Amino acid sequence: LTRWGYRVRQFFTAVTGAVGVEEMAEARRVLGQGLYEVFAAMPRQYRRHALGVYGRVREAGCDDPVVWQAALLHDSGKYDVASGRYVTVLHRVAVVLLGAVPGGKRVLRAASRRADARGLSGLVWYPFYLSRHHARLGAAKAARLGAAAEVVRLIERHQEDAREDARLRVLQAADDRE
Ligand SMILES: [Fe+2]
Ligand SMILES: [Fe+2]
Repeated sequence: LTRWGYRVRQFFTAVTGAVGVEEMAEARRVLGQGLYEVFAAMPRQYRRHALGVYGRVREAGCDDPVVWQAALLHDSGKYDVASGRYVTVLHRVAVVLLGAVPGGKRVLRAASRRADARGLSGLVWYPFYLSRHHARLGAAKAARLGAAAEVVRLIERHQEDAREDARLRVLQAADDRE
């Protein structure tokens, strides 16, 4: 229960945390104008999370702008610009809880199948789809806006086993700590 309490608190901190003008300016410097538009369009709690990951990557001594850009954009696939739908706090809580109970993973798979953003189904189910496929969706979005191939690759693989991949390990270590 301690772990769940921690996760729930972390969700709410993420939702209420502000994003400063200076931080946005730094994100713009790191990303360049094209990719910055992807970042700036994200809901505030996602920008807050991304800036946290970016900050930890920098703190870890990483001086690789490819990893910096991936840190800022890695979860951008959780937000769908066209429909305005995104993975809400409630959906994130549901994903964590279902991941922890017997049979929950199967329910989650079923819930993530509907790739339709419209109407009630879009409101209830589409965020589960976004959550499950956000790495691939975010990578495609970044590629469309001109991200370097290596940035796209890191975004696409950020939830996978990092193994010998040094860049991915740095990114994941910073992501896991939140
Ligand atoms: Fe992610
Ligand atoms: Fe993340």
